[in-house]
Amino acid sequence: MVLAPNVYDAEPIPADAKVEIERLLQSGDLFRYTSEDAPVALLEREFAELMGAKYALAVASCSAALFLSLKALGLPRGARVLVPAFTFAAVPSSIVHADCVPVLVEVGENYRIDMDDFETKLDATIDAVMISHMRGHTSDMDAIMALADARGIPVVEDAAHSLGTTWRGRNIGTLGRVGCFSFQSYKMVNSGEGGILITDDADLAARAVIMSGAYEHNWKKHPVLQDAFSRWQNKLPLYNTRMHNLTAALVRPQLAQLPRRVRDGLRNHDHVARQLDQSPWLSVPPPLPPERRAPDSIQFNLAGMDDLQAAQFTEAASRRGVSVQIFGLTQDNARAFWNWKFLGPQPDLPKTRHMLMRACDTRLPARLKTDELDFIADALVGAAADVMDGQLAFGT
Ligand SMILES: Cc1ncc(COP(=O)(O)O)c(C=O)c1O
Repeated sequence: MVLAPNVYDAEPIPADAKVEIERLLQSGDLFRYTSEDAPVALLEREFAELMGAKYALAVASCSAALFLSLKALGLPRGARVLVPAFTFAAVPSSIVHADCVPVLVEVGENYRIDMDDFETKLDATIDAVMISHMRGHTSDMDAIMALADARGIPVVEDAAHSLGTTWRGRNIGTLGRVGCFSFQSYKMVNSGEGGILITDDADLAARAVIMSGAYEHNWKKHPVLQDAFSRWQNKLPLYNTRMHNLTAALVRPQLAQLPRRVRDGLRNHDHVARQLDQSPWLSVPPPLPPERRAPDSIQFNLAGMDDLQAAQFTEAASRRGVSVQIFGLTQDNARAFWNWKFLGPQPDLPKTRHMLMRACDTRLPARLKTDELDFIADALVGAAADVMDGQLAFGT
């Protein structure tokens, strides 16, 4: 019998990291700018090459990368930034942190941006777009880039959950002006905390490098963008949100494992999705045709259930050993836009609200084996049947 799988532990950190961390602990060389070949600098080179981008800047978190991207775009105070209403609270927060104003866009039942609402809201008042590929679901990037390019509006990609995802064979994070990734736990590559941005724009890269904390002439330890750097010397604030050498030492050996994690993550997701789709009460929205996903979790919608039945479904799944959150039904959920009270009053977004009230989220790490995946799928399908087929008496 398979026990309920542990979906919370990440994969062990590769042994190479331990050797490098021991070396760093011995030398005490923990600051990225003490040497040119520091682990953070090496990570930036390797990550840029892996993604096919010209420049990479490693920082403290994906949120810091998003914030720096907006700052590096030189947006004025009060600039309006379109952002999908289905994302993590840290994403609109990064916009607020950059002294800009988030403008929320509707997201549909398939977790992707509602393109009618996007087009309507992308008016002359919008200065930038931040596309959050929430839980690795890619919106219609052809349409988004065409609309934004036609209006000369820069696109920042929040690719926190999209490391390894492609769109028409191109890496997510390379489609917009800048792409931001997270190495926080529960991501494809895990160092507890950490983030990185990539771009082909030399001026944007130079500005972000300086503002991340490359004070004085520390920018010389980055690929030399001499002209861009000297243009910005002493003209930008230093937000000091650099990456630590120990973080880079944790990330670097995991990059070699990315193809395996992406392959296994997709296989696991599709294996479970096929079983969930057999249930009349559960459905997994398919990806858009140009998208190849790299999931480490699964999202699915409840069909035909009211609020009480939806809550009973999560309880039944929990009794069967599988934890599910319904974004809109768990109290204070940071992915439900109505909990982002720090934004002040917002217009309602009925489509996104409707989706969030029935959209379920379950972790599905790439390391799970087939019997563990079957356990999860059986528990979810069984929980829906418990509630909807009247096999269990609730409330007694
Ligand atoms: C969609 C999304 N974007 C950005 C972030 C921020 O990442 P970080 O924790 O590295 O700041 C998160 C955090 O999980 C997220 O879920």
